[in-house]
Amino acid sequence: MNIRVQAGQLASVDAGAIVVNLFQGATEPGGATGAIDVALGGAITRLIATGDFTGKLNQTAVLYPVPGGEVKAQRVVIAGLGKRDDFTLDRARQVSATAARRARDLGVRRLATIVHGAGIGGTDPQRAAQALAEGAVLGLYRFAELKGKTTGPGPSGGANAGGSAGSSGAGEDEDAKRAIDELIVIELDESKVPEIEEGTRRGRILAESQNFARTLVTRPGNVLPPIAMAEEARAMAAQVGLRYEALEPSQMDELGMGALMGVAAGSEQPARFIILEHTPPGGENQKPVVLCGKGITFDTGGISIKPAEGMWQMKDDMGGGAAVIGAMRALALLKSPQRTIALIPAVENMPSGTAIRPGDVLRAMDGQTIEIISTDAEGRLVLADALAYGQRYTPQAMLDVATLTGGVVTALGHGCAGVMANDPDVAERLKKAGDATGEKVWELPLWDDEYKKAIRSDIADMKNSTGRAASAIGGGMLLKQFAKKVPWAHVDIAGMAWADSDSPYKPKGATGYGVRLLAEYANGYAG
Ligand code: BES
Ligand code: MN
Ligand code: ZN
Repeated sequence: MNIRVQAGQLASVDAGAIVVNLFQGATEPGGATGAIDVALGGAITRLIATGDFTGKLNQTAVLYPVPGGEVKAQRVVIAGLGKRDDFTLDRARQVSATAARRARDLGVRRLATIVHGAGIGGTDPQRAAQALAEGAVLGLYRFAELKGKTTGPGPSGGANAGGSAGSSGAGEDEDAKRAIDELIVIELDESKVPEIEEGTRRGRILAESQNFARTLVTRPGNVLPPIAMAEEARAMAAQVGLRYEALEPSQMDELGMGALMGVAAGSEQPARFIILEHTPPGGENQKPVVLCGKGITFDTGGISIKPAEGMWQMKDDMGGGAAVIGAMRALALLKSPQRTIALIPAVENMPSGTAIRPGDVLRAMDGQTIEIISTDAEGRLVLADALAYGQRYTPQAMLDVATLTGGVVTALGHGCAGVMANDPDVAERLKKAGDATGEKVWELPLWDDEYKKAIRSDIADMKNSTGRAASAIGGGMLLKQFAKKVPWAHVDIAGMAWADSDSPYKPKGATGYGVRLLAEYANGYAG
């Protein structure tokens, strides 16, 4: 989808549809919506008067202008903004997605819109335009590469033979063909066009990076084993200008990454340790921000195997890694002035004769030993080695992002990620980034006096599973031992990587949660 900004009147744009908006309870449309109402001979005022349209958030109505009349577009989509006092940038993001999806469903190929909410409650036009582009690009996302005869990274052969890509989804072909080719953002005030252009440019980069992460997460375990995940990172890095490297099992063995290699031991799929580096011009000596992402390409639980029901969803267990990869793409394209390094341990967690067992003790790269209570608490094992590896950069801050525990879903549901930190500044910056991007986080404590005993082991430096009570914190406490003196936070996204139901800019399925959060966070260290 092409996005361009144009100065002028919405009524004179030739398009399949134009989008205007209305606050809940407004009886007289104002601004651009008012102008369209006049051009339509009061059709929007009548629509409101009937009570058919109230302006409720994400409500839509469609009107059809008289051909040859003042409004050149075929359709006018009216989108509800909700109550004026409750308006936020995230609502602008939602409304943009809602209107774009409605237009696509109608078969619109060229869509024109005003910027929702610019100027409302002091919202500056650039940020409103960014939210607009994000909403449209995120909301229109579809994963279609494994349906029908489309080309793409089809199921691969070898140990993961998945057969052919399946039959043609004939019944869905019509829907699948519907796509918006062009989004035209219309602004009456020409002096605001440059800001709006910058906003849409940034929003588009961030949202496309998030969609890239979504695609990686949606690809199943056979399509995206660790090698394929590394290959995707390599190809992306070459496109946007990031440094790429991937360590192979022999190199990880040599480094002493015994925790990571312990998880890898059960799988036929060789592990990869993916390294991406963004260094701005002249930033070679900057202390980097290091982002570690859990890259379990499939989590069966290993010998401590998970129940069959719902296990398929554990293809999303590389959601943290995908978010980190997506954020690096965005930082490169946004030419972030902050040096940032991503570390993604990509590993498959399988049960087999070569798998680790409960009771085994593994030694991580920094020499610390971990007693395996559950082979299903594997995320913290691969991340322990990533955090240990990260020490070599003397980072100014380090994060790890992971679908780590069911416990965080019990605590926070699907509304935000859990943050645990050894440094209040890191936690504060994450909260700020969460509020700015709508990818919210909430802090849970990592107090040593209260929680350190949970990871105590009789025979090793620590144990990897702490039982039911505060299991999210148990994960954080183990990881804390590997962050050492580096200001660090652990972001548990287990409740956020996958959406079981549809919402405006989060189509059902992989969310790509974290891409915008991490890009905002890392970029915040610049200057
Ligand atoms: N990948 C899972 C966590 C998970 C669970 C993510 C549900 C998304 C939805 C992780 O590897 C895991 O299995 N965690 C265990 C840890 C326990 C054994 C300490 C859990 O949370 O049950
Ligand atoms: Mn697990
Ligand atoms: Zn896992």
